[in-house]
Parts: sequence; structure tokens; C-alpha cells
Amino acid sequence: MKDLDAIAPLGSPEREVLARIPPDRLPRHIAIIMDGNGRWAQQRGLPRVEGHRAGIRAVREAVETAARLEVEALTLYAFSTENWKRPRWEVRTLMGLLKEYLKKELHVLVENNIRFRPIGRIGELEEEIQRGLERAVTATQGNTGMLFQIALNYSGRAEITDLVREAVRLAAAGTLDAGAIDEAWVSAHLTTAGTPDPDLLIRTSGEQRLSNFLLWQVAYTELHITPVLWPDFRARDVIAAVADFARRERRFGGVLEGGSEGAEGEASEGER
Ligand code: FPP
Repeated sequence: MKDLDAIAPLGSPEREVLARIPPDRLPRHIAIIMDGNGRWAQQRGLPRVEGHRAGIRAVREAVETAARLEVEALTLYAFSTENWKRPRWEVRTLMGLLKEYLKKELHVLVENNIRFRPIGRIGELEEEIQRGLERAVTATQGNTGMLFQIALNYSGRAEITDLVREAVRLAAAGTLDAGAIDEAWVSAHLTTAGTPDPDLLIRTSGEQRLSNFLLWQVAYTELHITPVLWPDFRARDVIAAVADFARRERRFGGVLEGGSEGAEGEASEGER
């Protein structure tokens, strides 16, 4: 684990929490639904967009903390296919913040050995953003550390729909046989191909929904819901979520090895 003090000095409680987590209990992939920007702004009598602006610091801190925890991948849900329904000014501000982020924060990714990959219907974003994303991908493609995936104009249903279309197209062209499609094929053809499924999904602001995020990939992901609003989310909150994850017993629909219900025939059909 790298030096976390370089981002935000940790208090001794967080330091102790971190020291108690066995390295093999750390998640490989953390996904985050960043929520609560609007409420954060509202609580301060500010326009909603100020919440998004304040959320940039939380993005930076989450990215750097995850990189220093040496997780393999971090995926942030920045803009969904449904977010186009928001007021035009809010959408424009979010796109503006994204452009600014790509300009100002690229060096943070480069310096932290982070690889960058946007996921979603990127071709539908404005050209300047597509160019900025492309630049970030190119500048970080030789990096060997954490993969930072940012979901933009993304939704799980859109991703699956696009994949079904592609499969039908390939089948019609005679290059794909229906029998060749299995779960591994699907995983390997989603936009997240090559990335392990998220082990931990964090959602801020207390909402208990998946909101169309990584629907295929989160089949067995552990959920951590925190009341903290996104602009207030800090390194200590990443560590609290990771510590919560480290205490979970993951069964992937089976039973725990050596557990009392491990004997043949005893596992109930409804085991989850
Ligand atoms: C949800 O809060 C947040 C979003 C829809 C956008 C997240 C965007 C950022 C954190 C800033 C931009 C990020 C980058 C990487 C440039 P909400 O507005 O739904 O909050 P509310 O539920 O309180 O209204």
C-alpha cells in the first residue's frame, strides 16, 4: 500500500482501521455511484451546479485513495443516459466540469500511474469531450497501476442493449454462433471487458438504488451505502467502506467452505 498521507493526512482512527485490514480482504474493483451533489448545494442555499463543482474534490480524493490502496480498478458513475433529462444549464455545467477535469487533472492520473478508460456511449458526447477523453486514454495507456473507469452517457441497460445488437449483427454476418455465447463471452464484450466485476459498490447520500449502473457486473457485488453526500466524501470514507467490505462473508450463491452448512445436501435451495 502506498503512502496515503500524500493525499490527505489520515487521522489515527483511519490509520488503525486500515492497519487491521488483511491485504487479501481488500476489494480488487470499487465502483461508486456519486450522489447527493444537489442536496449538498441546497443545504447551503446554493444552485445545484455548485454541488457538482464541489464534487470534483471528492472525485480526486477517491481516485488517489483507491490508487494508493492498490485496488485494480475504480469505476465512477459521472453521467447516466438518463441525466440528459436534467435542466439544460445543469447538463452544460456537468459537461464543462468534465472538460475542466480532463485538462486539469490528467497529470494526477499520469503521476499516480493510473490508466484511464471512459465507458458508455462516448460517441454521442460532444467532440471536444471525446477528444479530451482520447487524450487522457493515450496519455495513460502505458501506465501499469489502477484502472480508472469513468461512466459517461452510460447505463447498464444501454450497455446490454448495444451488446445484443452487436451479437445479432455478428450472427447475421455469420461470424458468431449462438452456441458460442456464454457468460464469459458477454463479460468479454461489455465496455468493461477485461476488468474484474466490482467487489464493492459504494453509493453516497443514503439512496438505496442501483440506478442502472453496471447491471450485469454487480451480480455479486457487496453494497456499501453511506449517508455522506458526494461533495463531502473523503479518503476516510473510502477507507470506512473498504473496512466494511473486509468484514463481509461472500458466498457467490454457494456456502462458506468449512461452514456448518457445508455438509452435502444441507445447503438450502434459496442460498444467496
Ligand atoms: C448526482 O448528484 C451526481 C451526478 C449526476 C453527477 C456527478 C458528477 C460529479 C461528481 C462532478 C463531475 C465529475 C467529473 C469526473 C467531471 P445529484 O445531482 O443527483 O444529487 P441530488 O440527488 O442530491 O440532487
